[in-house]
Amino acid sequence: MDLFEYQARDLFAKHDVPVLAGEVIDTPEAAREVTERLGGRAVVKAQVKTGGRGKAGGVKLAADPAEAVEKAGAILGMDIKGHTVQKVMLAETADIAEEYYVSFLLDRTNRTFLAMASVEGGVEIEEVAATKPEALAKIPVDAIEGVTDAKAREIAEAAKFPAELVDQVAEVLKKLWDVFVREDALLVEVNPLVLARSSDGAGEGKVIALDGKVSLDANAEFRQPDHAALEDKAAADPLEAAAKAKDLNYVKLDGQVGIIGNGAGLVMSTLDVVAYAGEAHANVKPANFLDIGGGASAEVMANGLEIILGDPAVKSVFVNVFGGITACDAVANGIVQALELLKSKGEDVNKPLVVRLDGNNAELGRKILTDADHPLVQQVDTMDGAADRAAELAAK
Ligand SMILES: Nc1ncnc2c1ncn2[C@@H]1O[C@H](COP(=O)(O)OP(=O)(O)OP(=O)(O)O)[C@@H](O)[C@H]1O
Ligand SMILES: [Mg+2]
Repeated sequence: MDLFEYQARDLFAKHDVPVLAGEVIDTPEAAREVTERLGGRAVVKAQVKTGGRGKAGGVKLAADPAEAVEKAGAILGMDIKGHTVQKVMLAETADIAEEYYVSFLLDRTNRTFLAMASVEGGVEIEEVAATKPEALAKIPVDAIEGVTDAKAREIAEAAKFPAELVDQVAEVLKKLWDVFVREDALLVEVNPLVLARSSDGAGEGKVIALDGKVSLDANAEFRQPDHAALEDKAAADPLEAAAKAKDLNYVKLDGQVGIIGNGAGLVMSTLDVVAYAGEAHANVKPANFLDIGGGASAEVMANGLEIILGDPAVKSVFVNVFGGITACDAVANGIVQALELLKSKGEDVNKPLVVRLDGNNAELGRKILTDADHPLVQQVDTMDGAADRAAELAAK
């Protein structure tokens, strides 16, 4: 789960990473009071889950409360790379001397964690990474050892931070690693980490995280009860939210053929086969991923069908089951009962279902469906044939 900048800022603050004060608002008028609270000036920042907000005009300095209202009004509702700005954060302003970049992430390829750091941070970091890779230090971090004092200094030195800042940067790196580990993150990125001039112009200034990108590991939800509150419910797809509430493994896609299968691998290949078959039928595509798992009961089948039939984009449904421990006869009974269940709930079941049963007890399963003789259910014996039929029905 990706977080908004203000949520990342809150997590940073919780783990003592130095950040500036900030508040989130969703109406321009609210900017006046907040800006006054922040000392009369503020940076108005679009809260969208994408990078490059500054370049898109979503980060603006306001010199007084009236200007903050005006800038918030201009940024709220703005479209940044397909994300509509619903909220802005007003942040204290920093007098920036230097902009740096630091991050921790899971390095899947090398099966370890990775620290990245550069003294050439800021909105051009992608450009720096692409054209001057030597300016971006990459240091592996051992999962067990983590970021010790020595490791933190190694990262800061590899990134060529000035000697007088290494201690301060190392301290910030250790705290960011705390965020990474204790919050079960997959990514903690700070761009820019800034060196702020002290207000009296003296001293070496303070290192502060001005922007934060954090992605949390959904597999750790069970031990992170606070994370549920960070979910952006407004943005969640309503079908995905309904599926999640029913514990279904469902992902909404943008095609017309609803898909139900048992086993993630089978469902993935079903998506491919349907997309391929669709090329011959007005380019219809899979409407979703839905894995009902190994031991799917009639109830799970009914829940799955209910979600898929509730998707207005769906024109036909392909139920692709390879019987294993849960044999095809049980699945067939599940389909028949699921259709009855939906009918008794008053659901309007009116989309054709193409069913392919194979594997354990396939023949018995097919007989059960033939005997039930449901007007919407058709059977096709092969996966390719069934995909073609489902695509053809969706294209009608
Ligand atoms: N509180 C602040 N005070 C002063 N300047 C700021 C502040 N916040 C951001 N800026 C300036 O605006 C720039 C862009 O802001 P920020 O990095 O938060 O957004 P972004 O463009 O989405 O970042 P990214 O390119 O990392 O996705 C920063 O590099 C910094 O120069
Ligand atoms: Mg940034």
